[in-house]
Amino acid sequence: MPLATTTMIALSLQIINCFLFTATTLASSPPHGFTVDLIHRHSNSSPSRLSNTHLGSSPYADTSLDTLSSEYLMKLQIGTPPFEIEAILDTGSDLLWTQCLPCLNCYNQYAPMFDPSKSSTFKYKTCDTPDHSCPYKIDYVDKTYSKGTYATETVTIHSSSGQPFMMAETIIGCGHNNSGLTSSASGIVGLNWDSLSLISQMGEKFLGIFSYCLASKGTSKIKFGSNAMVAGDETVSTTMFMKSEKPGYYYLNLDAVSVGDTRVETFGTSFHALEGNIVIDSGTTYTYFPGRFCNQVHKAVENVVTADRVVDPSNSNRLCYHSGTIETFPVITMHFYGGADLVLDKYNMYVNRGRVFCVAIMCFADETKEAVFGNRAQNNVLVGYDTSSLLVSFKPNDCGVEETNQESLFSMFL
Ligand SMILES: *[C@@H]1O[C@H](CO)[C@@H](O)[C@H](O)[C@H]1NC(C)=O
Repeated sequence: MPLATTTMIALSLQIINCFLFTATTLASSPPHGFTVDLIHRHSNSSPSRLSNTHLGSSPYADTSLDTLSSEYLMKLQIGTPPFEIEAILDTGSDLLWTQCLPCLNCYNQYAPMFDPSKSSTFKYKTCDTPDHSCPYKIDYVDKTYSKGTYATETVTIHSSSGQPFMMAETIIGCGHNNSGLTSSASGIVGLNWDSLSLISQMGEKFLGIFSYCLASKGTSKIKFGSNAMVAGDETVSTTMFMKSEKPGYYYLNLDAVSVGDTRVETFGTSFHALEGNIVIDSGTTYTYFPGRFCNQVHKAVENVVTADRVVDPSNSNRLCYHSGTIETFPVITMHFYGGADLVLDKYNMYVNRGRVFCVAIMCFADETKEAVFGNRAQNNVLVGYDTSSLLVSFKPNDCGVEETNQESLFSMFL
């Protein structure tokens, strides 16, 4: 049961990025230009890309829930010969890093650690520094960090054609001093909007499109490129926004939250915005709202729940009740910009240990902190990111179950 300890919550939002490494980020070019360029290529200059071979070779990776940390782990391979790692799936940061030998200070990891000296394709990056080294340090909101050296390495993931999808000379972080993750994870794979992220390094061919379906148990998948399109019945889409202050984050605009029949508007609170007020993040467990708005949402829950209030057993100030059943609790709906109403399953919004149920929405007092739409709320929803059309799409789904062949959908799309 992915119920909380205080350490499992805000893993991912990355606060400080690296130093000594400069790259042109997607953030510096208007995302619209990107779109136009792709449409052009698709319709005219490279018709071969429309072939089924390309569609059939869409990359994907298996993911699973680490119940201890409530993080999703993506399986991928690095190096030659390929060496498997399981990295936390994080749309709130950019870098793909893994614990790397020799270790100055590594956390305990169950799986064997990556040894660059055993890989024929591993190369430390060189930088314009006195000793040409290229160090990085990445810090996350929950105090997790990784320090090490940038390197280029082959990254391999599965593909639907059966042929492995290989990304030569991918920039990764070889972490020699790392702290904060559970032993099941060998690192973090960043999937944000920045140029270093895995999806950005896949290149234009993959259209900046990926989708994942986070199952509460068993194996689920993350997909990249055209096979990752989310469409069809029950799909709702909302605009993604980028902020120049925090260029990598995928911001959505949350207009209101309904608790049962009570609609709580962001309008009139400091949370209200027109161009993004909440970051969608696969690497954070709970959903976080700023105090004033959040208290109204909690109030609305209190108004309908008749079960007894109990103190949060994990001391993290959650709204908790003693109840024999989840049925006692009201359905919560997120109203995103553009009429994208996401009706959440009760499992998404109430976490329990035994008979103690807590609301998976946490309030923070500092109104300037980032609101987060976390991974528990995204469970059993197919979530698609499309940076070329600037949309995030949601489609309720049973994520543990293989979906049907979507081939017909792709021909429609193309
Ligand atoms: C690892 O990094 C931390 C945080 O920057 C630092 O305090 C510590 O001294 C480093 N440890 C080693 C062995 O380099």
